Amino acid sequence: MTSRVRKAIFPVGGMGTRFLPATKAMPKEMLPVVDRPLIQYAVDEARAAGIEQFIFVTGRGKSAIEDHFDRSIELEASLEECGKSSELFDLRESVLEPGNIAYVRQQEPLGLGHAVWCARHLVGDEPFAVLLADDLIQADVPCLRQMADVHAETGGNVIAAMEVPDEHTSRYGIIDCGGADGRVQPVEGLVEKPAQGTAPSNLAVIGRYILMPEVFAELERRETGAGGEIQLTDAMARLIGHQPFHGFAFDGRRFDCGDKLGFLEANVEFALARDDLGPGARDMLERIGDVSP
Ligand code: G1P
Repeated sequence: MTSRVRKAIFPVGGMGTRFLPATKAMPKEMLPVVDRPLIQYAVDEARAAGIEQFIFVTGRGKSAIEDHFDRSIELEASLEECGKSSELFDLRESVLEPGNIAYVRQQEPLGLGHAVWCARHLVGDEPFAVLLADDLIQADVPCLRQMADVHAETGGNVIAAMEVPDEHTSRYGIIDCGGADGRVQPVEGLVEKPAQGTAPSNLAVIGRYILMPEVFAELERRETGAGGEIQLTDAMARLIGHQPFHGFAFDGRRFDCGDKLGFLEANVEFALARDDLGPGARDMLERIGDVSP
């Protein structure tokens, strides 16, 4: 079995209810941060980590994602005609190679674990990545690249981890690492969305995973957990002790783009970080600061 991570799953079947009405006729993964849809950031991060095959687990009403990663011959031709070469370059950059992208439908919204399981035949018997586009990570070295480097050292499962405040632990998968510290920590337990006050630590799972294919057999049981859903966290928890399993405190800043304020903050920070928009964005923020009470 190859230990290099070549395939990535992007679960994009969610309904995006928190962003209605914006997401009534458009997938939430197509919401733009500055000028690129969220899903584009996740795909670019996967590419930077050496991923070669991109598997989208979609649902109804998600065809805009397929169109986004496809060529648009008419648009390319008209940009070429008008001499808009930088736009043309950006457009071509977003396209994935034919045959390297696959779509599978999650027919019912049964949870993240179920979404990942839907891609089992496309992944086969090799380690793979999962990226949740809602978790947008700004980092000098893309987060999944950092994780692939850890995986090359440790083998087994590697999940992204981040400290969260006590009052937020019930929103996440929480890692029990037995009090160990350091960037790479052996995982001793995992619990999905623990009730307030019961979390084993403040270390939350963030939506980047490198997993071993054995997790599919655990997902196959279709056991439900938190929220009555088939949870990826529960299936991963059953691998602990049988294979290497590490939490990795990545270098970078994570924005929760499944939340309106997190999404807004991501837009501001990503604009500030850009050469073309940073100075204008900074002026704008100063103006807003001047008028605030
Ligand atoms: C999912 C996972 C959870 C993880 C979170 C990260 O939860 O189930 O373990 O901590 O993503 O964003 P969701 O946000 O889909 O409820």
